[in-house]
Amino acid sequence: FFSFKQYILTEDLPYDDEQEGLNDQIVLTFSHVVSNNTPKGMAADKFAEIVAEKSDGNIKIVVFSNGSLYSDIEEIRAVQEGNVDIIAPSTSKLGMLNPAWGVLDLPFIFPSYEAINEGLDGFIGQTLLSSVKGDGLIGLAHWSNGFKQFTSNDGPIIYPQDIAGQTFRIMQSDVLSSQFLELNANSVKESFNSTYDLLDSGKVDGEENTISNIYSKKFYNLQKYMTISNHGYLGYAVLMNENVWNKQSSETKRILTEAMSEVTQWNRKQAAQMNENQLEEIRKVSSIHIHELTNEEKNSWKKVLDPVYTQFKNEIGSTLIDKALKLRD
Ligand code: LMR
Repeated sequence: FFSFKQYILTEDLPYDDEQEGLNDQIVLTFSHVVSNNTPKGMAADKFAEIVAEKSDGNIKIVVFSNGSLYSDIEEIRAVQEGNVDIIAPSTSKLGMLNPAWGVLDLPFIFPSYEAINEGLDGFIGQTLLSSVKGDGLIGLAHWSNGFKQFTSNDGPIIYPQDIAGQTFRIMQSDVLSSQFLELNANSVKESFNSTYDLLDSGKVDGEENTISNIYSKKFYNLQKYMTISNHGYLGYAVLMNENVWNKQSSETKRILTEAMSEVTQWNRKQAAQMNENQLEEIRKVSSIHIHELTNEEKNSWKKVLDPVYTQFKNEIGSTLIDKALKLRD
């Protein structure tokens, strides 16, 4: 019986008895759901590149993008069961492991990219990342994407009441479904890779996502309106199967850790730049109407959405919520 990993190994390696050390090559699989030209896609590819360089090709990270191996709904179980070694799900999908992750979904929790970095690198990020130990996982890093925007077909979204009655595709997060409830809107938790079809078939009116996801999956072709609201954070926890990690030599662990730390620094800068450039691209290539919320409009959203903080105080825990509130405006 051939395991999936043996298959990759055999497919990828040249059969050359002269080459030394090939049998010792370590192959780690990395599955994610977005396109390659996104902050996460590029970070995963760069991680593979740096690990290969640092290990002289002895550690190979095989990246599967676009949900070609597992959907976002399947990948968490897959990494826990050891069917894939590394994943980088958006933190919104980790409530199934621990509701504390919901802190990162609270509306308007981070006012800027600097606040995102402060949150991820400080108490909040560290607490969340170490919380996965009990789930058979090792938390390697927080990669960021940036801020979510609203897109819709059902009229421009400027004030909170504009969204009432609409149906939105959302990620697997209770905080996000409460956000839409506060807006008197409906939401359906569906996988990222089904979003295009849901929009195309009109099963949902809209969705919330980062510019890089809206751009790379061409959601802008299916939607008439986009609101630059920056109303929520979207980023990733890079998670590795704990047994696979424990099995590695200290040298391999050192290489993986160093490479991850380099890529994480790079990703944080890259994400902001990418979202900015791709917004310009969307303006050039599509006729989608884009509205950027003014500060006054933003305040009206915050007012309507603030009750979500109180609703989740117990589930998320007041220590995390209080820390997060300090990073808000
Ligand atoms: C989504 O499901 O909309 C995002 O989490 C996709 C991703 O991984 O960026």
